[in-house]
Amino acid sequence: MDLYEYQAKDLFAAHGVPVLPGKTVETAEDAKAAAAELGTAVVVKAQVKVGGRGKAGGVKLAETPDEAAEKATAILGLDIKGHTVHRVLVTTASDIAEEYYFSFLLDRSNRTFLAMASAEGGMEIEQLAVERPDALARIPIDAIVGVDKAKAVDILTQAKFPAVVIDDAADAVVKLWETFVSEDATLVEVNPLVRDPQDKIIALDGKVTLDDNAEFRHPDHAALVDQRTENALEAKAKAKGLNYVKLDDGQVGIIGNGAGLVMSTLDVVAYAGEKHGGVKPANFLDIGGGASAQVMADGLDVILGDPDVKAVFVNVFGGITACDAVATGIVEALKILGDSATKPLVVRLDGNNVVEGRKILDDANHPLVTQVDTMDNAADKAAELAHAGA
Ligand SMILES: Nc1ncnc2c1ncn2[C@@H]1O[C@H](COP(=O)(O)OP(=O)(O)OP(=O)(O)O)[C@@H](O)[C@H]1O
Ligand SMILES: [Mg+2]
Repeated sequence: MDLYEYQAKDLFAAHGVPVLPGKTVETAEDAKAAAAELGTAVVVKAQVKVGGRGKAGGVKLAETPDEAAEKATAILGLDIKGHTVHRVLVTTASDIAEEYYFSFLLDRSNRTFLAMASAEGGMEIEQLAVERPDALARIPIDAIVGVDKAKAVDILTQAKFPAVVIDDAADAVVKLWETFVSEDATLVEVNPLVRDPQDKIIALDGKVTLDDNAEFRHPDHAALVDQRTENALEAKAKAKGLNYVKLDDGQVGIIGNGAGLVMSTLDVVAYAGEKHGGVKPANFLDIGGGASAQVMADGLDVILGDPDVKAVFVNVFGGITACDAVATGIVEALKILGDSATKPLVVRLDGNNVVEGRKILDDANHPLVTQVDTMDNAADKAAELAHAGA
């Protein structure tokens, strides 16, 4: 899960990383009040989970509370790269002597953690990495050893931070590492980390990605989920423990057992769809190896609740859970769903106990269910039905 800047800064503050005071508001009036309360010039900042807010007009300076209201009015409702601004952070404006870049991240390709730092912040870091790779220090971090003050000093020295700030910045870096580890983050990024005219170090921006796989260790992280922007179907699937991802512009609902099978099902359906009006897969849903009737019902319920879906392809390869159990699951699921199941289902069963499984579906003779024996033909049928229903 990606966090908003204000949430990232709340975590920073909790771990002792220096940030400026601020308040997150949803109206111009509240922005004015927040600026009055801070009693300083402020910066009004769009809270959206996308980079480049400044360039898009989402970060503005305001000298007075009235001006803060004005700037908030301009920013609230703005569309930044497809993200609508619902909230702004009103925060103390800082004088800036220099801007730096700092991040910790999970470096998957090298199977380690990485610190990235540059004394040249301000510029977009991706651009800097391409144009002036020498200006961006990339230092692997041993997960067992971690980052202590000496390591932090070493990183910042390699990144050519000026001597006057290294001590302070190293303290901030150690605290950013503590944030990274104790919150189970896969990214903690500060761009810009600034030096103010008094040589104090401040995190002026913050970007944090939390590792969803560690969610069970952090009950408090649930409060960071933004209900407003979360996809309703994904939220429902998550509540039921399903491995579901909604895809844009698709019409064929997909259910399969096993992530690999589901991935290849998406490809086969996309290919088949080219012959049927360009229909595409509408989602990824892996119901896993031991799909009970209830799991099948939950999965079908989520997929049938997607208004984009015009037909569903259930693609199951019987393994430990054999085809007859899955077929029974489908029949039971359709009973559980009753009248709420209204879209055609193409079912392809293969693998363990396939003959028994197909017989159970044949005997049930449900009007919405079509059985097709091969994956390619089933994908074709599902695409055809989705196109007909679109
Ligand atoms: N509190 C502040 N006081 C003074 N200047 C600020 C403050 N916050 C941001 N700025 C200035 O605005 C610039 C952009 O701010 P910020 O980094 O938060 O947004 P961004 O980089 O446009 O967005 P993103 O990080 O999402 O790409 C900063 O580089 C800094 O110069
Ligand atoms: Mg930034």
